[in-house]
Amino acid sequence: MRLGILTGGGDCPGLNAAIRSAVVHAIRTHDASVVGFSGGWRGLIRDEARELDLKSVAGLLTRGGTVLGTSRVDPFREPGGVDAARATLERHRLSGAIVCGGEGTLAAASRLSEAGLPLVGIPKTIDNDIPGTDHAIGFDTAVETVTRALDALQCHAESHDRIIVVEVMGRSVGWIAACAGIAGGADMIVTPEADLCVADICAVLRSRKARGRDFSIVAVAEGVRFRPDPDGRCPEVPTRLDEFGRPAYGGVGDALARELEARLHVETRTVTLGYVQRGGTPTAFDRLLASRMGVAAVDLVAEGRTGRMVCLTGGAIDSVPLSDVLAGPRAVDPAILKVAKVFFG
Ligand code: F6P
Repeated sequence: MRLGILTGGGDCPGLNAAIRSAVVHAIRTHDASVVGFSGGWRGLIRDEARELDLKSVAGLLTRGGTVLGTSRVDPFREPGGVDAARATLERHRLSGAIVCGGEGTLAAASRLSEAGLPLVGIPKTIDNDIPGTDHAIGFDTAVETVTRALDALQCHAESHDRIIVVEVMGRSVGWIAACAGIAGGADMIVTPEADLCVADICAVLRSRKARGRDFSIVAVAEGVRFRPDPDGRCPEVPTRLDEFGRPAYGGVGDALARELEARLHVETRTVTLGYVQRGGTPTAFDRLLASRMGVAAVDLVAEGRTGRMVCLTGGAIDSVPLSDVLAGPRAVDPAILKVAKVFFG
């Protein structure tokens, strides 16, 4: 057996652990060979490939990022992209290719699979918004990173009696804000799913102040857009599109901070954590998840069960049709939002 592997979309901790696991399992268990494609779909379309042997993946378990490189190239937006991808798979005589990606990359994998390309998906994204899996690789590490940042900001906010608005990633869903907000003891957690207006947030912070808590930490997901207040007031949040026409986030933290300072008359600062959330060494959970998913993905290719995505369901590794990804993005579990709400105020 020969198989390919690529990583597409945003980088995240745990991708290298998945590559390592797939390569080691393919070579040691299946006596297979593995080709790595550079820069996501770009490598498959342009045939930028290299052989991956055991030596090439030594030491990868703990390294963030992806040694294969990544891009947001979409085969359906590249002229001739689908035929070129198919031709590359045939040229290398691959039984299948493993695609590690987020919603966008796996949606393309699903469409390519419909077109007959033998692909298997591994879900990875700090946003954790991929349908069909409880966890995507990288999410746990991002939550850990944000939790540590919230811990550090607590003492700062308390020392200065400030409100600190911490803007975290997550695109149109609030998984990181909700989970890290709970773990890091945020006083208010603002997610797209909660659909709040600024007056709601002010009410929570005022009630804290009434109880003698002059400082507050507010965790806000980058994808939040506020519901207008009952009196119609609503802060403007910058809206931009990236080169692929998808919303590019960033700026909601500043918009909220300005509004809170004006309404509550408390010194307010913003911290935008940005790409720090995608970096660093993967947590033990992400290393384990990536290792399990890498093994499962190789087994699916070996069994000829392409067109599927490996997943984590209730603690077990399983697989679902790649097309399940098209139902995304996956919103935060209401049970987690309920816990987040318990600690407001
Ligand atoms: O999807 C992962 C993610 O980090 C989002 O949380 C964020 O909005 C986006 O990628 C940033 O994308 P880019 O790397 O294109 O700036």
